[in-house]
Amino acid sequence: MQQQLNKILTEATADIEKALSSDDIEEIKLKYLSRKGELNSIKKNLKDLSDEDKRIVGALANEVAQNLETSIKEKFDLIYRKELDEKLQTEKIDITLTGKFTPQGKVHPLTSTTNEIVAIFQSLGFSLVQSKNSPEVETEHFNFDMLNFPADHPARDMQDTFYTKVAPNVILRSQTSNAQVREMENNKPPLRVIAPGRVYRSEAVNARKNNFFHQIEGLYVDKEITFADLKGVLNEFIRLYFGSSRVTRFRSSFFPFTEPSAEIDVQCIMCGGKGCRTCSNTGWLEILGAGMVDVNVLKTSGIDPEVYTGFAFGMGVERLTMLKYAIDDIRLFFNNDVRFLKQF
Ligand code: PHE
Repeated sequence: MQQQLNKILTEATADIEKALSSDDIEEIKLKYLSRKGELNSIKKNLKDLSDEDKRIVGALANEVAQNLETSIKEKFDLIYRKELDEKLQTEKIDITLTGKFTPQGKVHPLTSTTNEIVAIFQSLGFSLVQSKNSPEVETEHFNFDMLNFPADHPARDMQDTFYTKVAPNVILRSQTSNAQVREMENNKPPLRVIAPGRVYRSEAVNARKNNFFHQIEGLYVDKEITFADLKGVLNEFIRLYFGSSRVTRFRSSFFPFTEPSAEIDVQCIMCGGKGCRTCSNTGWLEILGAGMVDVNVLKTSGIDPEVYTGFAFGMGVERLTMLKYAIDDIRLFFNNDVRFLKQF
């Protein structure tokens, strides 16, 4: 038996020596050290020996087993490292190869115009209204009543409103002017804010009109604010947005919530004022509605008209973008045709 053990040791050592891969090592383990391996079959026969021999042969068997385990582990570590090195070599990634093309998104032209206009007014000292003061789903109360539109007044029809089934009086706002009221109710003057956002009107869609679009509302309330301030701020805005070359005009107008009121037109960029489809043959495009905040509106919003005055304005983002980039159809903004959007 001792001879057998010595033979196993010699053979196994030779096998370990010859092993080239981790698979070989696995095989050696199986052959000599597993439950059905050669060492174990010798251990099984120990029971037939005398106590004295059991001790001697048993000790030797354990020694051989330990011996083999150590050499197997040493050899395995060596092979494993070699195999890992080879794997790292063959699977190396060439980071200098050109990458795959991933298309990059762009800012929508309406968003960039909005950002640009907001930045201009910020440079003039206005700040963004809190979004809670400018909701798109609104009540008639803030969209009309508080803005001095009398109930049943035909002025409500000026802006064909979308009514909802959420509750009677809950509408999609037809103008960002709701932000004026909420701002005045929730804050004390001086107020100097702009409120960009989406508005909805039930209109037949054509090159000039869509049933939703975007406005930017402005409000300035303080002591001693006059129509001269309104003109100064809006002229400065037009100069910064269009450059000084664009011809504009202030035209007297009517809004229930401002008195006096004005509309500001810009000469049509498509026809240079001669008249075309974009300007409905008028030669002018309206870009701004404005006026001094009506005394009634100040009062009902909790501001003392004896102490404070103010002006408000609202402009269409689509129209301002169309004028800047000579776009002749409002529907292009919402078709999401990549060929159009890519140009900006
Ligand atoms: N809300 C008006 C509109 O949508 C524009 C406006 C805003 C007019 C503020 C005056 C003051 O037509």
